[in-house]
Formats: sequence, structure tokens, C-alpha cells
Amino acid sequence: MAYREVAIAKSLKLIEPGPLVLVATYDTVNDRPNVMTISWTMAIDWDGGIALTTGPWNYSYQALMNLKECVVCIPSASLVETVVSIGDVSGEEVDKFERFGLKALPARSTKAPLIDGCIGCIECEVEKYIEEYGIFILRASHVWIDDGCEDKRMIHAIGDGTFKADGETFDCRHLMADKLPPGV
Ligand SMILES: Cc1cc2nc3c(=O)[nH]c(=O)nc-3n(C[C@H](O)[C@H](O)[C@H](O)COP(=O)(O)O)c2cc1C
Repeated sequence: MAYREVAIAKSLKLIEPGPLVLVATYDTVNDRPNVMTISWTMAIDWDGGIALTTGPWNYSYQALMNLKECVVCIPSASLVETVVSIGDVSGEEVDKFERFGLKALPARSTKAPLIDGCIGCIECEVEKYIEEYGIFILRASHVWIDDGCEDKRMIHAIGDGTFKADGETFDCRHLMADKLPPGV
């Protein structure tokens, strides 16, 4: 499978649906990439702004703070058990790329890698950390999608340990054309 770079504006189509994501970081202490699962994310503007919720209770936090970058990857529904399991162990003790058979691909502008086999990946810089709420504000720097990814269904967390995959699509563009920015 191969990633193709697309415009920053396309990051909205990866984040706006509210998928369960994998956040890859680079752990300079163990000198290896790490990855965590995150369900609390949000698009915050049209220019690749993304908010995600985490904090010092996770090992990835220190890597996010140290290098001020990460890669947000959107896994497909066929990976749901792996994605949930990734969120159940800490990279402090375990090389999660090795444990879960993940392939790290070099990114363009981050030391954190792209994760092979996802619907898309967004290289991001950390703009700000809002400590009071444990919210990272990220800015996309490069956006990648894999047209060859066979399962394009995103995963959605329900909040009780159950998950849903994307289902029906409704094309309502004709009802909101004036609200759609160019390039999305
Ligand atoms: C389905 C699922 C969703 C999760 N969502 C979040 C989240 O939104 N924010 C967060 O901080 N942790 C979340 N976690 C927990 C982290 O993924 C988990 O603590 C992970 O082991 C952290 O890895 P690290 O210690 O290597 O950073 C989630 C876990 C699962 C299984």
C-alpha cells in the first residue's frame, strides 16, 4: 500500500467524522516510535487545526511535549481489535510497533512515523497545550491518504467499549454548498 500526499484542507475529511485515531510519536528516551489510541479528537478550523485530548497520565505526552509533533493516523474498521489493544498498553514498557506488527514509514516533516495500512495519516506540529483541559492543539503539515486501502470504513467509539464502523453516506453537498471551503 502507498500513501499519496494531498492538500492540507483534506485533513478535514479525515478528522471531521470523529474517528478513533492512532497518534504516533517519537520517543527520544527509548529511541523508537510509539503509538497511542485516541477517541477524543476534533477539527477546529479549515486549515488543518486539530484538537486532541491527552495528558501526563500517558507516556506519549512527554514525546508530544519534547518534539512538539506527532502523526495522527486513521485506521480502518478491520483493525479495530489492534487499535483498542494499542490503547491498553504503554510504550514506556513495550515497543508497540513490534508488539502489534505495525510498519513505520518515514514522514516528511516529523520524526514520528506514518503507520502503514491506515486510511490516511496527518503529520502535525503541536501549537499549544491547554493544561487545564488536557487538550493539544495541532496543526497539520502534511496529509497522506492511501487510495489502495481496501477497507475505508472509519471506527467510531461509542464510549462503553463498543465501536461502530462507517455505514451509509448521504450526499447533501447541494444543501450546503455555500458552507464548503475550496479543496475539501
Ligand atoms: C478506545 C480507546 C480510546 C482512547 N482514547 C483516549 C483519549 O481520547 N485520550 C487519552 O489520553 N487516552 C485515550 N486512550 C488511552 C490511551 O490510548 C492509553 O492510555 C495508551 O496506552 C497510552 O499509551 P502510551 O502510554 O504509550 O502513551 C484510549 C484507549 C482506548 C482503548
